[in-house]
Amino acid sequence: MTSTLLKEKVLEENRRVHALENQLYLSRHPEQTNFFQNYIVEKTLDQICLDLDRDAKILDLGCGTGYLFLRFLRRGFDVTGLDLSAEMVEVLKKSVAENEKNRAHLSVGDVEAFIEESQEEFDLVVFSAVLHHLFDYQAVLKKSCEKLKSGTKILIFFEPLKQQVTSSLRYALHRSLSWLDEKSYHLEMGIRNIPLLEDEYHHSDYQRQFGGIAPAEVEKILKDENFSIVKVDKYCARRYGINAWLANRILATQNTFNILAIKN
Ligand SMILES: C[S@@+](CC[C@H](N)C(=O)[O-])C[C@H]1O[C@@H](n2cnc3c(N)ncnc32)[C@H](O)[C@@H]1O
Repeated sequence: MTSTLLKEKVLEENRRVHALENQLYLSRHPEQTNFFQNYIVEKTLDQICLDLDRDAKILDLGCGTGYLFLRFLRRGFDVTGLDLSAEMVEVLKKSVAENEKNRAHLSVGDVEAFIEESQEEFDLVVFSAVLHHLFDYQAVLKKSCEKLKSGTKILIFFEPLKQQVTSSLRYALHRSLSWLDEKSYHLEMGIRNIPLLEDEYHHSDYQRQFGGIAPAEVEKILKDENFSIVKVDKYCARRYGINAWLANRILATQNTFNILAIKN
């Protein structure tokens, strides 16, 4: 398959899978909402927002059903969201309160095309759990960086961390906890009658077949594009907060990363 065809296939699969995710997206992904992850999200956003002017403009690329979009909106900012999936955007639209609508701008489309065409300037650009869905995330990130003005921040959030196994014992414990986490998750979803889509993610989560995304590679792109790295967080996300707590506080394992950078 040529790379153009493969790229189209990845886009098509993302449209198909996220149409199925739809309003059950966050119910199917408790790893994004449990108490441990919630603490990380709120702390990260509080720190970023402290340095943003009240009239700052935020762009959330691959905004989905509004995981970060809605939190920025509720903090009073003007937020533009873009997502490939009309169904995900539709769910997000319904979550925007009447008095927030004038600050919420939503559209449907491919992130790469949006970056190429958009003439707007933003103060913060967010990629939350979206880079691993892209056929060529390096090219997209590079193009985004090129278009941003000096002082603009980029937040890369909740991406699957590509890493080497350094200790086999720790890896075995990491896998055992992951097994327990997944078993409990399947049981809960069964009880709550929430159908899982696990066999559907093969092409949509394109970068997972390469083991995720290496933060060092992301940092290199950012630095080459004249960004300074403000913060890199690596940690372990789990479906359940208690398992995430155990993984981070006892096993000290990692499977997820966040990066904040600013253009010089
Ligand atoms: C895992 S979800 C994350 C959603 C949200 N950012 C969050 O953190 O919950 C990935 C989102 O990226 C969107 N997406 C995938 N490929 C995309 C592309 N090429 N352009 C724009 N959005 C895309 C999907 O439709 C989906 O809503």
